[in-house]
Amino acid sequence: MIVTVTANTGIDYIAFVKELPRGKTIRATQMVESISGKPSDASWILGELGVTSHALGFSAGPNGDRAAGFLRDKGVQIDYVPVGGESRRNLILISEEGWQTAITTNSLIVTEEHLAQLRAKYIDALKHASVVVLGGTLPAGMTPAFYVDYIALARARGIPVIFDAAEPNLSAGLTSYPTIIKPNQDELSGLIGRPVILIDDAYQAGLTLYQQYGTITVTTLGAEGGLVVLRDRAYHIPIIPVPVVNAAGAGDAVLAGLAYALDKGLPIEDGLRVGFGAATATVTQPGTAQCTRDDVFRYAEQVQLIPYP
Ligand SMILES: Nc1ncnc2c1ncn2[C@@H]1O[C@H](COP(=O)(O)OP(=O)(O)OP(=O)(O)O)[C@@H](O)[C@H]1O
Ligand SMILES: [Mg+2]
Repeated sequence: MIVTVTANTGIDYIAFVKELPRGKTIRATQMVESISGKPSDASWILGELGVTSHALGFSAGPNGDRAAGFLRDKGVQIDYVPVGGESRRNLILISEEGWQTAITTNSLIVTEEHLAQLRAKYIDALKHASVVVLGGTLPAGMTPAFYVDYIALARARGIPVIFDAAEPNLSAGLTSYPTIIKPNQDELSGLIGRPVILIDDAYQAGLTLYQQYGTITVTTLGAEGGLVVLRDRAYHIPIIPVPVVNAAGAGDAVLAGLAYALDKGLPIEDGLRVGFGAATATVTQPGTAQCTRDDVFRYAEQVQLIPYP
């Protein structure tokens, strides 16, 4: 089974506004609530695709219950460790002027005892794991050593790991040789210490990362699409032009597609098609990571893997 671990669980509130004048009452044209947290988003999308996953993580309070509710509705098996504080509630503002801004928080409190409980659950879950999806920010009380450990535990058992995080977690996790990383433009720039602007910047970085860690890099570049570097080949994946409603969680859809293929023993190319098809499907919906199974597989057929360079 696919195992996902979300240390920093939460929910997103997405408010659609015309514009954002300071000091004024703003009437949202639409407000929706959705799942949040990269691996949880992947579990939610996998559930929509009819694939059950086992979601581990830390959770607290009503926001944690809401997040669990979203996942349970899609048949995800939830196994959270209750902790202190409150699962996050993030605000995403989307303006008709064409911009999108996320305001996040860090409100969970994790102790050594909680860490030991989650680690025991994780080691147990690895017994039946086909692939592990890890990533996202970490609550107070946690350090990047969490990812070093969790990736190593899976890799030592021969289980592939898909990892998606920003610095400092990304470079820490790489030292345990994840199978695939999925940075976006900012995350890859932060990792290599210089701006990733061109598709070729992502290609060069992917080559270096493969040489150093044997890790496949799937870089997503928003409206510029994706660039994937495998052992002996690379692909540019252009976007499918669609009306964009909310781009949050599009990257997490790519995680879901990759996990889908690894779980079923399909070639990575199939995972890229499902993943970028799912990313396309999610940007057309108001909720974070929201998509329909029909849209995902319809767009998956349209995804082009263009050999690069
Ligand atoms: N404006 C867009 N139009 C069409 N497709 C898009 C657009 N923005 C993103 N996508 C698709 O979604 C993929 C992932 O997007 P992006 O790079 O924004 O991910 P991300 O920053 O990791 O997102 P998140 O972390 O919110 O999940 C892109 O590679 C592309 O295929
Ligand atoms: Mg992302």
